Amino acid sequence: MIAERYLGGNLAVWTVGRGTPILFVHGFPFDHIMWVPAARSLARCCQSILPDLRGFGASNLVFRDPACEDDFDDLDGCDAPPTTMGVFADDLASLLDELDIPQVIVCGLSMGGYIAMQFAKKYPHRLKGLILCDTKTEADTPKAAAGRRHLADTVLQEGVEDLSDGASGFLSPVTVDDTPAVLDAVQTMMNSQNPTGVAAAALGMAERGDTTAVLEQLRVPVLVVVGEDDRLTPPDSMKALAEKAQRSSYAVIEEGGHLAPMERPMAFEKIVRDWLSKEF
Ligand code: MLT
Repeated sequence: MIAERYLGGNLAVWTVGRGTPILFVHGFPFDHIMWVPAARSLARCCQSILPDLRGFGASNLVFRDPACEDDFDDLDGCDAPPTTMGVFADDLASLLDELDIPQVIVCGLSMGGYIAMQFAKKYPHRLKGLILCDTKTEADTPKAAAGRRHLADTVLQEGVEDLSDGASGFLSPVTVDDTPAVLDAVQTMMNSQNPTGVAAAALGMAERGDTTAVLEQLRVPVLVVVGEDDRLTPPDSMKALAEKAQRSSYAVIEEGGHLAPMERPMAFEKIVRDWLSKEF
């Protein structure tokens, strides 16, 4: 798996497999690595496209214009404007243009789901289907938004190191006990993020709107997937989410937490393959 760079060299993207194109959008504060096990499992039926979102992993936060000589490196560590879910969605649409893919299934987990909903709102003609994992369509409460702003200040001042103390909270207790390598991978991924990119995305999430009406109006097939042990967006809330879509399927991954597709990639693969053969 070798990354290529798109959008003037600003966005790092990995592709795996051949077949139905699926654009996998990672959560916060993660990068494409969270999707690698699932993409490998799906390699025989799907072309998985795994970008690092703007400001995460190997992608730039501030996009350089290749025609311009300016050096933006000194922005690292400074305040950055919020990266809104709409900006992330625009990046994904431009990426699909460069890849020459007119329509795609978008699969987003948690923050990736917020971005997938923005993509559905802004680019409905490009959406062939939607997979929503461990996410929600509601906006933040004022208290949650204030918590995001506090987190943004903290990571800008102190870096991202303390974030990974909470890594086990993203996983099922079964994963933490039986597969410590997954916990290690999540911690490493969280520790390697750029604080300015993390802060910008936290501020962007704080100002996102409610996208429930977008989901209710979608006519494409929607697959809703949740980890049985997800404490952030638990199965009850995900089932209610699925019931809002017109053409939805709903699946629970046993012994999976908030990062169920990374924790149980083979279970996730089966759910996606069954849904693809039923709907397409
Ligand atoms: C995520 O996994 O992307 C986060 O839980 C999203 C959030 O903080 O709302």
